[in-house]
Amino acid sequence: MKIRNLKLVNFRNYDNLAIAFNEGLNIIYGDNGTGKSNLVEAIYLLALTKSFRINNDKYLIQKGKSNAYVEGKILKKDDLANFKVEISNEGKKVEIDNNKIKKISEYVTKIQVVIFYPSNTEIINSSPSERRKVLNIEISQIFKEYLILLSNYNKILKQRNAYLKQLYLYGNASRQYLDILTKKLVEYGKKIYKYRYEFIAQINSYITEIYQTIFGSGELKVNYISTYNKTEKELLEVYRKYYSKEMAIGKTLIGPHHDDFEFILDGHKLKEWGSQGQMKNAILAMKIAEVRLIKDVLKYYPILILDDLFSELDKKKIANILKLLNNEVQTFITTTDIKSIPKNLINESRIYKVTNGKVEVKNG
Ligand SMILES: Nc1ncnc2c1ncn2[C@@H]1O[C@H](COP(=O)(O)OP(=O)(O)OP(=O)(O)O)[C@@H](O)[C@H]1O
Ligand SMILES: [Mg+2]
Repeated sequence: MKIRNLKLVNFRNYDNLAIAFNEGLNIIYGDNGTGKSNLVEAIYLLALTKSFRINNDKYLIQKGKSNAYVEGKILKKDDLANFKVEISNEGKKVEIDNNKIKKISEYVTKIQVVIFYPSNTEIINSSPSERRKVLNIEISQIFKEYLILLSNYNKILKQRNAYLKQLYLYGNASRQYLDILTKKLVEYGKKIYKYRYEFIAQINSYITEIYQTIFGSGELKVNYISTYNKTEKELLEVYRKYYSKEMAIGKTLIGPHHDDFEFILDGHKLKEWGSQGQMKNAILAMKIAEVRLIKDVLKYYPILILDDLFSELDKKKIANILKLLNNEVQTFITTTDIKSIPKNLINESRIYKVTNGKVEVKNG
């Protein structure tokens, strides 16, 4: 999958930008605060309709303007289509080939982007819900039906929580209905568990090799933490044990909405033992494993964005990373220091210089 070009209007510090990309490596350099991350953020937005670094879309619109849009042509196998995401005070609109798409969930599964950015590392120490968010985004990029499944699960979960409260307040309400909701919850929950289990198993089949190729040594693993590694019958029994406790607090205590994952490096939890550098390396290895996994399942590579990756890496590791990536992977790298990029890579890449919302192509 390749992004051919990009048009930005009133997006962050870009008034009006039209730019064409290389199908291989794209290196974007410039001083701090000039708009490098904004540019790759626009590519991410085009794929996922949201930013990778902020939750409130209004900051994506240029200061003083009322709307912004990002538009780009995406080549998927032999198919070329025009994608557009528009943001205004009234919300978000998405289009493919000038046709409005009503459901965002229909749109977001079409373009696959894998991104690595410095504060990614924070997910290791953040809350389980942040980690689940990451897991959900990653799985739904590969399996479209996963998003629908999640939304079905969340609907039942909400109903079940509301009913638990009702049971508590009106003790004589039907327990049978709770059983029905629990059964449905387990049915959807087991499917979510399966997707997550498989996803993490596949990541694990690649991650150590990737980690070692870049960093020389280290046994890295991702550990999936879930209460759902049981049969349906066992799960229903567990729920039954929790009924009275759940009723008292009006919440469903177990299920994939409490799942989590952790990194294990050489037998130790990274969260407790790892250095900042090791955490960063682990996330990077996971992202590259994801690139491979997407290719396995969808039969094409995603677009890869490495924002500010090289700030702490030496040339040898940079070369190792790029060796891992087949040159079929369209890659975007941002850096303040163009000298940190090995010469042979410069020759193969298209180089862009960013200065305050303007982009200049330096070669090719
Ligand atoms: N909504 C907005 N309207 C106008 N300008 C904005 C808006 N949001 C951000 N900016 C500007 O964008 C710039 C930040 O851009 P960006 O994050 O892309 O920098 P960068 O080149 O990646 O820098 P660094 O090397 O430090 O990561 C800031 O100068 C900021 O003022
Ligand atoms: Mg940046």
